[in-house]
Amino acid sequence: KPALRLGIAGLGTVGVGVVRIIRRHADLLQARTGRRIEIVAVSARDAAKDRGVNLKSYAWETDPVALARRDDIDVYVELMGGENGAAKASIEAALETGKDVVTANKALLAIHGQTLAEQAEAAGRVIRFEAAVAGGIPVIKALTEGLAGNQITRVMGVMNGTCNYILTRMESQRKGYNALFEECAQLGYLEADPNLDVGGIDAAHKLALLASIAFGTRPHFEGIDIEGIQRINLEDITYAADMGYRIKLLGVAQRTGRGLEQRMRPCLVPADSPLGQLEGGTNMVVIEGDAVEQVVLRGPGAGEGPTASAVLGDICDIARGFRLPVFGQPATTLADADSAQSNSP
Ligand code: NDP
Ligand code: HSE
Repeated sequence: KPALRLGIAGLGTVGVGVVRIIRRHADLLQARTGRRIEIVAVSARDAAKDRGVNLKSYAWETDPVALARRDDIDVYVELMGGENGAAKASIEAALETGKDVVTANKALLAIHGQTLAEQAEAAGRVIRFEAAVAGGIPVIKALTEGLAGNQITRVMGVMNGTCNYILTRMESQRKGYNALFEECAQLGYLEADPNLDVGGIDAAHKLALLASIAFGTRPHFEGIDIEGIQRINLEDITYAADMGYRIKLLGVAQRTGRGLEQRMRPCLVPADSPLGQLEGGTNMVVIEGDAVEQVVLRGPGAGEGPTASAVLGDICDIARGFRLPVFGQPATTLADADSAQSNSP
């Protein structure tokens, strides 16, 4: 089979991670997919920056739209981020010119995912985004493949490593919010705009995508009731611990008699439950289905290796010829439930 030729836009934490895996595991990837996976061209803003990987054998494009339009690539891998601008324009250009797309861009997809998925469907292309939800945890594959025989009743979880890191260390190390925020920056957890993290917006982007896949609806970010962790202080953490609870930024999406209920808020969870025991930057997604009952997935939600691992999972799917759309087609719209009326969890 011919090689699968990639154009990668974005050579930051995730992009460099993807380049490293492809170089390190070239033979393994070929053995697993039956095709050589080759990087043809790359793009970032600063061509002179030392990124710790050898990029000399790849063509360089300063403009990601030009990269997406190249006729010597099969798959456009968007790893720049951003809800609009270059990421959106380049993905549209890739689809227009017949490329499949892999992205980790939850901010973009939570808002424009359905439109892009429809554009991909119309063009006979696929758009994959495993890394956009809970980083290294293959939760989209679990929902669309392993759990395909279930009607999903609820998905919930901790999907922002920064917030979980801050909340758990506030308790275990009695450290203040600002020092912990700095540590998260060092670990590479933070978004370019960290308010997306601590404001609960990044986790809500992920929840919108997760819910849309779980319930076959359009991603509906605007329907999520969001509250961040900025107002949680050491006193709150101590009171919760004294009562046998931990505070987690918990996302919940469930189908109710009144429609789709989605919320992302700090919640009290029992300290001895799997969610309560989740430490540091780790993520956890709990999926409930009518046949399987409950599945709990736990793993790293951010960072170079874990996120690149998920991107490679998508690239390998495309190399193997798996071409089913991930968002349900045609997607339905489920009215928002009044989340204030719900008692769970
Ligand atoms: P970084 O900020 O580390 O890297 C972004 C890269 O994109 C940089 O190489 C930058 O170039 C390049 N870039 C930005 N704008 C442009 C542009 N207009 N034209 C060309 N290149 C551009 O981001 P991350 O690697 O952390 O994140 C990438 C994506 O992955 C985002 O969508 C993010 O939300 C998502 N993601 C990240 C995770 C993580 O753990 N980091 C986890 C899950 C998802 P230059 O280097 O020259 O400035
Ligand atoms: N800022 C995100 C987090 C990165 O802290 O989880 C992964 O999406």
